[in-house]
Amino acid sequence: MNDIHIPVLTNKILEYLEPVKNKIFIDCTLGSGGHAEALITHGAEAVYGIEVDERNLEKAKERLKQYENVHFIHDNFENLETIGAKILKKEKRIHGILFDLGLSSLHVDEAVRGFSFQHEGPLDMRFDTRTEVTAADIVNTYTLEELLFIFKTYGEEKSSYRIAREIVQHRRQHKFATTSQLADFIANIFSKGKPNFYFKRHPATRIFQALRIAANREIEVLQKGLEGAVKVLSITGKLVVISYHSLEDRLVKNFFRHQKTLGSLKILTKKPITPDDEEINRNRRSRSAKLRAAEKL
Ligand SMILES: C[S@@+](CC[C@H](N)C(=O)[O-])C[C@H]1O[C@@H](n2cnc3c(N)ncnc32)[C@H](O)[C@@H]1O
Repeated sequence: MNDIHIPVLTNKILEYLEPVKNKIFIDCTLGSGGHAEALITHGAEAVYGIEVDERNLEKAKERLKQYENVHFIHDNFENLETIGAKILKKEKRIHGILFDLGLSSLHVDEAVRGFSFQHEGPLDMRFDTRTEVTAADIVNTYTLEELLFIFKTYGEEKSSYRIAREIVQHRRQHKFATTSQLADFIANIFSKGKPNFYFKRHPATRIFQALRIAANREIEVLQKGLEGAVKVLSITGKLVVISYHSLEDRLVKNFFRHQKTLGSLKILTKKPITPDDEEINRNRRSRSAKLRAAEKL
């Protein structure tokens, strides 16, 4: 979850992608443009930045307006195969592709987007506000079995059944509309109404993660994005992925391994690269970041 600067990982991105003259890159998760700017200022010939969230794209355009060789694409990286084919017609080669997954700090800070239980906002959580299904739709209309699947699979939440059952009972009388309603409701299940009950971690954390993944179809979209990347990347081109939770990281790891058996990718990171303790102390949000890199064969 990050467009906050993680120097260790930015350095690794630059090391793997080697942005020098004549090299063309796709940043699949432009966010506020930090990594695209690093690639351009270190010498990349051009960066094509994809961003699904229109508001973040506008922020990136503003930040990067002085660079003529940054191109902005408002799209979902699940369409990378088509996007990449268009870029290849013009540029002939794609030397590197970057994914820095998940939320940006802009999402967390803007209450109205409904990503954070720390801010009161509508229960939305869509990266792309043109898509139909919000987190509120999921919580208020999905069956008990569907909620159970989402909480278990995407949240890896131990109390999935209990939370799903309580939600289904509660929503018969009261629909969930805001982040705080849902977060307080879940906290209440565990604190049993006791005021000042202390939680080491808010009990809604994993449920919010699960709802975000479901609302944005993140797992399916990432799989498609990675498949697209392998198709459009030129031979010897590099693929770098930063993930922020175990589900994503597992998907990336297994995808790399599978492509290795097919002879399409060489894995460059035996183990994922993570920020060091100093970095994590300075920047708590970086603690879950994992970077994996591979080369197209
Ligand atoms: C962690 S931030 C990226 C930060 C960026 N690397 C920077 O330096 O500012 C992830 C961004 O990816 C975007 N995003 C998430 N899923 C996406 C998708 N499927 N397609 C395109 N962009 C996506 C989010 O809207 C968010 O802005």
